[in-house]
Amino acid sequence: MNILVLGSGGREHAIIKSMSMSKRNSALYALPGNGGTSQLAKNIQGDVNDFDLIKNVVKEKDISIVVVGPEDPIVRGIYDYFKANPDLSNVKIIAPSKHAGSLEGSKDFAKNFMEKYNIPTARHKTFTQENIDQADIFLETMNPPYVLKADGLAAGKGVLIINDLNEAKKEIRSMIIDKKFGKSSSKVVIEEFLDGIELSCFVLTDGKSYKTLPFAKDYKKIGEGDTGLNTGGMGAISPVPFLDDEFLSKIENKIIKPTIEGIINEKMQYMGFVFIGLIKVKDEPYVIEYNVRMGDPETEVVFPRIKNDIIDLLDSMGTSKFDEISLEINTDHAATVILVSGGYPEEYEKEKIINGLFDIKDTVVFHAGTKKEGKNFVTNGGRVLAITSMAEKYQDALKQSYDQIKKLRFDNMNYRKDIGFDL
Ligand code: AMP
Ligand code: GLY
Repeated sequence: MNILVLGSGGREHAIIKSMSMSKRNSALYALPGNGGTSQLAKNIQGDVNDFDLIKNVVKEKDISIVVVGPEDPIVRGIYDYFKANPDLSNVKIIAPSKHAGSLEGSKDFAKNFMEKYNIPTARHKTFTQENIDQADIFLETMNPPYVLKADGLAAGKGVLIINDLNEAKKEIRSMIIDKKFGKSSSKVVIEEFLDGIELSCFVLTDGKSYKTLPFAKDYKKIGEGDTGLNTGGMGAISPVPFLDDEFLSKIENKIIKPTIEGIINEKMQYMGFVFIGLIKVKDEPYVIEYNVRMGDPETEVVFPRIKNDIIDLLDSMGTSKFDEISLEINTDHAATVILVSGGYPEEYEKEKIINGLFDIKDTVVFHAGTKKEGKNFVTNGGRVLAITSMAEKYQDALKQSYDQIKKLRFDNMNYRKDIGFDL
């Protein structure tokens, strides 16, 4: 069976790594992939949003399963493109439909969905140019800090958390009228600030049945102690140490079940991952956001813990076999630390030679922004490598990753030394 994975991050390398351990004899392809995926799969150049190109690759390489890593092609409707194309009717595409993609692509859509299905989330109201005057009145009913969210995708930058009321009033105008985040902020959701600890929940569903994958906690800020700018993720741990059975059952009953029921009830075509960003406030779970894909770097700690044959699992989706497969999860803890290019998430340089990769022991190195150049791997992005270790305790997994990182070097390499500090 031939399989194509779309994307170029640590997430896609981790997915391909799990696939490479399948007992199924399959040829793996990555588009565009990275230095790491080139060692396990054949990389094919191209843009994940170029659906015509992807169609040609699928036909030429006789691909049976396409796994879509990032949100962009999902929100742009890659699932619908495949379904509308008779040539592709035998291909299984692991991605939700454009309709379902709105759960990530529009905060307003997601909020209305949560309201309709009684899924706990922060109190909110949506504003556009038409009702912008009422935004001030709504803000005055709330306590600081104020959370302002651009409705559309904004590359992780569309959420502002503001302490001062007047500044919040100014910002909402800058978002809606001055288009601070372009078209993404022509609609803005203002919501109540929730004070708690965040965790990431992952569900695999074929739109009929679902499986809850291991939970994880990620560290989004560039600076130690969770300070500074937001990044795509600086580290992650799975399982989540503060997730006990009681809290898990609250998440299952109040959030996961109604989410899947809502997806089915709204007749959203859904074949893929639901990533529910949660926050624990006192002892209650609330949804911060939905994503319609796996998280990165969470995949680099979630996938290594799944003992099932990943290809069997994905291949079973949409058939009665999916329901019959039970997940087998490694009880060890996984921890990953992300090595980034100095300057990230702002400006940084690329093409730095990465040294020490062949000296790493008992740790998996997932590549993100890397490429192979001759014998060397060189940096090719802000997030460069994810260093994942497993141990009985997350502290030992982290120690192992940090010990191995000492062997790795590239110019201006940066990483957080405090992943797990808050647990
Ligand atoms: P989002 O893109 O919706 O995930 O928001 C990005 C980040 O902003 C989240 O990971 C949270 O850290 C923070 N955030 C978003 N909404 C809220 C909220 N209502 N209360 C507190 N923090 C929030
Ligand atoms: N780790 C957060 C994300 O993938 O959006």
